[in-house]
Formats: sequence, C-alpha cells, structure tokens
Amino acid sequence: MPAASLYPEPVMRRMEMPTARAGRADGVAGADTAVAATSELKIATEHVSISYGDKVAVRDVSLEVRARSILALIGPSGSGKSTFLRCFNRMNDLIPGAKVQGRVCLDGEDVTDPDVSVVELRRRVGMVFQRPNPFPMSLYENVAYGPRRRGMNDRRKLDELVETSLRRAALWDEVKDDLRRKSGLALSGGQQQRLCIARVLATEPDVILMDEPASALDPVSTLRIEELMRELKENYTIVIVTHNMQQAARVSDVTAFFTMADDRAGYLVETGPTGRIFTRPTERLTEDYISGRFG
Ligand SMILES: Nc1ncnc2c1ncn2[C@@H]1O[C@H](COP(=O)(O)OP(=O)(O)O)[C@@H](O)[C@H]1O
Ligand SMILES: [Mg+2]
Repeated sequence: MPAASLYPEPVMRRMEMPTARAGRADGVAGADTAVAATSELKIATEHVSISYGDKVAVRDVSLEVRARSILALIGPSGSGKSTFLRCFNRMNDLIPGAKVQGRVCLDGEDVTDPDVSVVELRRRVGMVFQRPNPFPMSLYENVAYGPRRRGMNDRRKLDELVETSLRRAALWDEVKDDLRRKSGLALSGGQQQRLCIARVLATEPDVILMDEPASALDPVSTLRIEELMRELKENYTIVIVTHNMQQAARVSDVTAFFTMADDRAGYLVETGPTGRIFTRPTERLTEDYISGRFG
C-alpha cells in the first residue's frame, strides 16, 4: 500500500476497521475521549427539527459537542446528516422552504435567534464541503479572501495570516513559492481541499464543519485530511459528516448515528464515545448499520 511509507505506524494502525469484538477500542482514535469529556461544552442542540416545506428531514435531535473534540455524524444517505450539520451555522437559512425548530447553542448562545449576526456566526463556524471549491484566484487571495472582507487591509498582517493558515492546513511547504502566481484551481484535489481548510482557518473560527470532506479524494489525500483533522482538534471543535465508517472510527472522539424513521424523517439513534459505538453499540439499529447489515 503506497501510504505505508508516508505515514507513521500509529496512523496505519488506525486505518484498520475496529471490529465488533470487545477490547479493540484501544487502537482507535476515538478511544481518547476522556480528554474531550472534560473540556467545555461548545455546541448543544436541543430538540432540533428541520423540515423542507412539509417534509420533515430531521426530527428532534438533542446532542452536545465538547470543545476541541471531533464529532462524526454517520448514517445512511438521506438520514439528515447534512441538513443537521447546516443548522450549526444557519446554512439552512439559504434554502427556500427550510425551517429549523429547537435551539442550537454555541457557547451557550442560541444561534437560531433572529438577532444573531449570521455573517459573524459563519465566521465562527466555518464549513468545508465535499467538493473542494477554491475560488478562481491566486492561492494567496483564496486565503486572504475572508479577512479582506472583514476589512483587514494591512499587508503585513495579511501575509502573516495567510502563512499561518496555510501552515495549519499542512499546505504551506507545498505552495509557499507559488502563492501569488498559482491559481487555487491548479492544485491537486487533496491540495485544493487543504486550501479550502486554510481559507476557513483564516477567518479564525472556533468550529469547523466538514461535510464528507474527503469523499472526492484519493486514499493518500484522505489520510492527510484525517491527520490534519487530528492536529486541528487541538485548537478547534470539528463536526464531520462521513459515510465512511472507518474514517469516523479513525478520526472522531464521539459518533452520532442517524437513521430514517418510517416516514423517512432522519433522527438520532444514539451517540457516544466512538470506541464504544463501534464495539458495543446500545441500539440494534446501530449494530446493524456498523456491521454492514443496513445502509
Ligand atoms: N435543499 C433541499 N430541499 C429539499 N429537500 C432536501 C434538501 N436537502 C435535503 N433534502 C432532503 O432532506 C433529507 C435529508 O437529506 P440530507 O440532509 O442531505 O441527508 P444526508 O446528508 O444524511 O444524506 C432527504 O430526504 C433529502 O432529500
Ligand atoms: Mg449529506
């Protein structure tokens, strides 16, 4: 496997799928939840339901996300994971007919309140999409875009922020000589996704939402993104949607399993430390899903 020479032994070990046997949780990234459980509460949703017109897409979801942890949302296609993810930075506001009920608290403040500045909210809660979407401009301008829009004009400060963001996104060394010459579109897929992560980091967020951020990437680029996520969680809170259960097992501290009710509305079946969800789920539905009997 080509990745073997690029990644140190512990990362390779985390690539293995944890099996349903007890006692396997120790090799899984999600096993270190003791740290996450003691950090402060970053996000809490309370009875969140989301509908499109009169079709309910997400029903009554209450869950918590600790600061500097990674929450993975898993579940079959159509179970409302993306819809739910979008409630954290009010991206559903952009969809005509979408309606969000319940509370979504960020640092204790309900962000569904109409008085909340959506621009500021989306700065604090950045988003990375499935398809990398760099702007058709230079690497530098891609990263400087957000800070410029917030009014940062000081050349030296911008240079610094661009460099810091690219370093944090593990892209700096690969692009530092081409910053102003090369277009964001000229990078490889994996580099484009790291550029998009750098663009989010440049707005100095607290929370990063990622909707299947690696599903369009090759396996080596995927591992780089996963490794980057583990680095980023030292400073940021991350919520990731993934249909790749091995990925959820490798990167996340906590996993939330969604599925669909008889009326097709998505709901949360159970949530818990990733190591436990993948080895000893409480619910039969979860067990069926992670063992591949459904979805
Ligand atoms: N913009 C939209 N307008 C109408 N229905 C939508 C929209 N986005 C998603 N849905 C519906 O909401 C449900 C949940 O979708 P989604 O959140 O994308 O699920 P997942 O990410 O788990 O695959 C699906 O039935 C989907 O068709
Ligand atoms: Mg989705």
